Amino acid sequence: MKASIHACGRFLLGFTLALGAVAAHAQAAATSVDVLHWWTSSSERRAADQLANQLALAGVQWKDAAIPGGGGMAAVKVLKSRVLMGDPPDVAQLIGTTLTDWADIKLVLPLNAVAQRQRWQSALFPTVLDLVTYKGDVIAAPLGIHRINTLLYNRRLFARLGMAPPRSWAQFEVAAQKLQQLGVRPLAWSDEPWQIATVFETLLLGEAGPALYQDLVVRRHAAAWMDPHVERALVRLRLLRTLAGEVPQERVWTEGARDLMNDATGMMIMGDWAKGELMAWGASPTRDFGCVEVPGTGGMHLYSIDTLAMLVSPRQHEAVQEKIAEVVVGPAAQLAYNRIKGSVPVRRDIDPSSLDGCARQSWETFANPSSARAPSLAHRMAADENIKDAVAQALWRYLTDAKSEPQETQRRLATIIRTPVMER
Ligand code: BGC
Repeated sequence: MKASIHACGRFLLGFTLALGAVAAHAQAAATSVDVLHWWTSSSERRAADQLANQLALAGVQWKDAAIPGGGGMAAVKVLKSRVLMGDPPDVAQLIGTTLTDWADIKLVLPLNAVAQRQRWQSALFPTVLDLVTYKGDVIAAPLGIHRINTLLYNRRLFARLGMAPPRSWAQFEVAAQKLQQLGVRPLAWSDEPWQIATVFETLLLGEAGPALYQDLVVRRHAAAWMDPHVERALVRLRLLRTLAGEVPQERVWTEGARDLMNDATGMMIMGDWAKGELMAWGASPTRDFGCVEVPGTGGMHLYSIDTLAMLVSPRQHEAVQEKIAEVVVGPAAQLAYNRIKGSVPVRRDIDPSSLDGCARQSWETFANPSSARAPSLAHRMAADENIKDAVAQALWRYLTDAKSEPQETQRRLATIIRTPVMER
């Protein structure tokens, strides 16, 4: 990845110089910007439209370049090829470690001036500002914080069973059995590798606890992957998959959410973008579904933070790009966008009482200094694209080959997850 990104960089810088004159002309006329992202489900689309509306008020026209595909697998590839072709978008949904890869080769516009003017230092959560700060530069505009360790449950089905949502795995197993007796699939499941990795990292955090999770995922100590807590998370992962009923399939994440909405499934473990989706379809978090922390992860926040990066572009839209960063991080856009997206504002100065119950719990947990905040591996917060993909593949192999033993997968994960070469 790094090598090809460097090739992209050399090409693009040459291209940028060559087009300098053209760009100067274009800058005067254009306020329309090309935005590459992967938000294509109902709620994602609406959330992106909300940003576009906020930007339109500031005189910036959002030209949409959405690439479908949950988790952004396809979008990241398209971005790379567009950069290689000398046609980078002006703005891209670049998150976590992918950001720093592009920043390393100077393809990301620093936003230090905006950050200073808008006092991001005091307005944003330190974890958020830290994530978008690299080698002293602020390199992206943060949009919202998703919580991965979210268990969504169907309120109607739980009411019919006379049960409260599970707070422990023992309660989860009782609920699963009762849902099965009702003829309902207890847990939404998909064999899509990124979805498997999303469930796994939640189980891992719950089994290992925050300190060991840091060791495994952030400090990436290979030996730690042989710990029995990792084995326990793998065993539980397999157990949860058996609740899918018939042979599990690769389904897009919205299908699981749809089953939860239609009373065909009792529970779903997914980032809270699934909550946004249910709400976009008209479901209410007080009437139709609820969310609790995945058992074992109480008081912990496994996060994925969406961010927009401004790319150095032959079209040179710097002033407009800075305006975009200012608008999307501003309080009005933050509340409007996150309410639809399912995530929570990256700002600490909002009023949490204006959020729905799931969001309030997420925001308050993230804001609480004594909570454990853990970066998501499956959503690029802790390791690069290659490591993330290799982990997801190893987990997929483990689950789809009944003969594969947890220890074998632990060894594989230990090899994949190497110590970071460059610490921040
Ligand atoms: C992104 C979310 C998105 C989800 C599903 C995650 O990686 O952070 O914004 O909704 O993928 O596509």
